[in-house]
Amino acid sequence: MKISVNRIVWTSFLTGIAAIIIYSCQTNAKSESNPVDAKPPATVLLAVDSAAIPGDKFGEAVKYGQELMYRTAYYIGPEGINGRYLGNRMNCTNCHQNGGTKPFSFNLMLSHEQYPQYRAREGKVLTMAERVNNCINRPHNGKSLPLDSKEMVAFLAYFRWINSFVPKDKPYKGGKNLEVELPDVAASPERGAQLYVQHCERCHGKDGEGIMTADKNGYVYPPLWGPSGYQPGSSMHRIIKQAQWLKANMPFDKATWDKPFLTDGEALDIAAFVNDDSRHPRPNPKMFDYPHIAEKALDYDKGPFADTFSVSAHKYGPYKPMIDYWKSKGQKPAY
Ligand code: HEC
Ligand code: HEC
Repeated sequence: MKISVNRIVWTSFLTGIAAIIIYSCQTNAKSESNPVDAKPPATVLLAVDSAAIPGDKFGEAVKYGQELMYRTAYYIGPEGINGRYLGNRMNCTNCHQNGGTKPFSFNLMLSHEQYPQYRAREGKVLTMAERVNNCINRPHNGKSLPLDSKEMVAFLAYFRWINSFVPKDKPYKGGKNLEVELPDVAASPERGAQLYVQHCERCHGKDGEGIMTADKNGYVYPPLWGPSGYQPGSSMHRIIKQAQWLKANMPFDKATWDKPFLTDGEALDIAAFVNDDSRHPRPNPKMFDYPHIAEKALDYDKGPFADTFSVSAHKYGPYKPMIDYWKSKGQKPAY
């Protein structure tokens, strides 16, 4: 089978190689340091080495899992060759860049060892497989993979394999999201609209529709809203969460996590514009999220709420008064 490797995949692999070099430099530096030195361990930059995928049956599953991350729609999209599960043609790697290994891009390298885990959105303990299906259901607007399907097993094998690159004794860079400072004013879709034209439109299009690959099995530039975009129940639809991701990752050709392009305020305003569904409708099936309302993420915009702040405040901020409110009740707000 001939696999056409598109530009994005290439960029991803090249980034991966660069990161391996950085990681190995850091490992060398560490081994030369004084062992009695009591300084806290430096955070390491991780990368996976695809050449190290084992040549056995497990390795086969890992390889298919990696393929599924990069070419999700080709395999399991609306016209997938191995099954029709996704409702849209985005690929996992569009958000979990470099197949979930890029720092600060909803990195998935730690995930495998952190499940089963309690999830507030569902109000119960989820397995990793159920969490994978969450992303298939929401951003991808699709139907769940059977838990024993070849595809689910491949995703899990891949996540276990990327997890094996995480050192047990040191923190690593970019497992969590890049923080944005929350201003005293609400995020503004109006300011965001202007910034969108300046910084995003040239790739994602005037109507956020993106540009498909020639074979129509994915996107060169994925859609941001409209019938092919992610759903409101997705975490990408939450403004703080999206702003953290934009700061580290967009514009694609200009931002890096260590040299963001957008300011924190700009990232919040643009996220407010992209997620303003009065301008930008998107698929919106009924979801029953957060059965325990006091556990709602701060920037989740659907009521009822356990506090007295408005829908608009939850969606656009200002978030600080809400954070203070929850702190005064001795609770840590989630966002
Ligand atoms: C539109 C963007 C988007 C797409 C596409 C997407 N995800 Fe996600 N995914 C997210 C966000 C946002 C989170 C939550 C990250 C956070 O809370 O910091 C997430 C979380 C996850 C998690 C849980 C991570 C953890 O450690 O808790 C897994 C696993 C996951 N995604 C797998 C997938 C898979 C597999 C696909 C493809 C079938 C996929 N995602 C496609 C946005 C996306
Ligand atoms: C140079 C082209 C380019 C520009 C400019 C750009 N992006 Fe992207 N964007 C991409 C590509 C390519 C991806 C997919 C990344 C991947 O698959 O690794 C992406 C992915 C995304 C995603 C996640 C996937 C989805 O469709 O939901 C969001 C959200 C996003 N971009 C928002 C923005 C915003 C907002 C701006 C402006 C600040 C912007 N981008 C500017 C190329 C671009």
